Amino acid sequence: MSDDRVIIFDTTLRDGEQSPGISLNAGEKLEIAHQLARLGVDVIEAGFPIASPGDFEAVRAIAREVHGPVIAGLARAHAADIDRAWEAVREADRPRIHTFISTSDIHIVHQLQSTREDVKGQARAAVAHAKALVEDVEFSPMDATRADVEYTAEVCQIALDEGATTINIPDTVGYAMPHEYADFLARLYELVPGLRDVVLSVHCHDDLGLAVANSFAGVLAGARQVECAVNGIGERAGNASLEEIVMLLRTRNEAVGVDTGVNTRELARTSRLVSRLTGYPVQPNKAVVGRNAFAHESGIHQDGVLKERTTYEIMEASSVGADDVSSIVLGKHSGRHALKSALEELGFQVSGQTLNTAFKRFKELADKKKQVTAMDLEALVTDELRDAVRAYTLEWFDVEASTRRPPHARVAIRTPDDELLEGDFTGDGPVDAIFRAINAATRRDVRLREFRIDAVTGGQDALGEASVVLELSGQSAAGQGVSTDIIEAAALAYVRALSNVERRVLAAAEETREPELAPTP
Ligand code: KIV
Ligand code: ZN
Repeated sequence: MSDDRVIIFDTTLRDGEQSPGISLNAGEKLEIAHQLARLGVDVIEAGFPIASPGDFEAVRAIAREVHGPVIAGLARAHAADIDRAWEAVREADRPRIHTFISTSDIHIVHQLQSTREDVKGQARAAVAHAKALVEDVEFSPMDATRADVEYTAEVCQIALDEGATTINIPDTVGYAMPHEYADFLARLYELVPGLRDVVLSVHCHDDLGLAVANSFAGVLAGARQVECAVNGIGERAGNASLEEIVMLLRTRNEAVGVDTGVNTRELARTSRLVSRLTGYPVQPNKAVVGRNAFAHESGIHQDGVLKERTTYEIMEASSVGADDVSSIVLGKHSGRHALKSALEELGFQVSGQTLNTAFKRFKELADKKKQVTAMDLEALVTDELRDAVRAYTLEWFDVEASTRRPPHARVAIRTPDDELLEGDFTGDGPVDAIFRAINAATRRDVRLREFRIDAVTGGQDALGEASVVLELSGQSAAGQGVSTDIIEAAALAYVRALSNVERRVLAAAEETREPELAPTP
């Protein structure tokens, strides 16, 4: 790859999926991975295969089905992790194993309860083991920015000696400042000249809001791979936001002299898909993909933009795909063929049963709403992707709401074992009543942590999109639902969150029975 090209390593499905409350099923992960391939990222870190059987299966499915990007699996510096990662990615067109071990004394002493010498040995053995399986091996000295640079350099040299092809320097806890991070990388280049013959990578967390700035400082210092996540999701405050780093390098290309291979017109759609499936909203003023990123409020700005767009805009909305959402409009007379081609234009390949269900839901929606837009179709199809195996489903509900009596809800829920349960509740409001009626039916003592409802488009007949986060036995998970009836959207979201959190509780119980499964990094 030429020296003016920055590799985009997307970790939405690994570090991003470690955000609290996110629980993507395999189908959802696959859909995101297909969209990442359309977006044109170079590497997809598809997961941490040893973490759970679900993670393993999802990485394997992505490796088998997603073509174009390199597919990477994460592994601690343990032979068992590396073997499991290899099993998961080996069928990819271009597989990669990414292995890591901490080099900071804080981690070595307190977490690994080991010594610097031992860590060197583990790094050597891990890279050698991975290299015996696959040519493309990435090594990360975790918490590098709080580690001694000379010692980190020694460990990186060992990884290079054993054949690592990418060395990634994580700012694991988002502690570094841009000038410090650049100095750290510059010093590593001095201490390890061989770093110039491989790809140097950056992986920055956003605890102090500096993830993109630090990644950019790393690129200016010579790094040619940036690890980032869509919408900046990830552990704690998240990772560097993919769309921000990509548009920074594109917009300021003349000044910086490097660019990525990303098809930026897919950014807005990718952001919406990830937000919908993870239940993590995008703040309205978020750079590049927030709904206000191209909106002008003050009269002076509006006046300027009407006269000449560049007076107050440094990027065009069309360059990130934020303009094309209103171009597709279907109505109740549109047929299956029109729906299929509209969905294809939106990047969804649907056929068979999925197309039938999407068509049925489209017709129901078109009966209630005169014009069905691209945003509506995206919301409906993404909603269809959510239904997972072993899930509760909402069969029917009645809600009586009035200003004169407390609202009362009655629901019927089908359990994963196909039992039909009914429950009712008189609540403080109609949404409260239906949520508690679901608890009564399923006899689950879940705690509602978050509830949000948004309109997919403007207008009175807009689809409502609800998101719920529930907590059960120390685990939390999100669920989303879409309907023109906001009570139904809320109930669907609640039932899905309940299914997801139960699956998490069961998986956590499995993990404690199987000690070889790893905690997330
Ligand atoms: O933040 C971190 O250090 C990581 C590593 C596993 C690369 O996510
Ligand atoms: Zn990380």
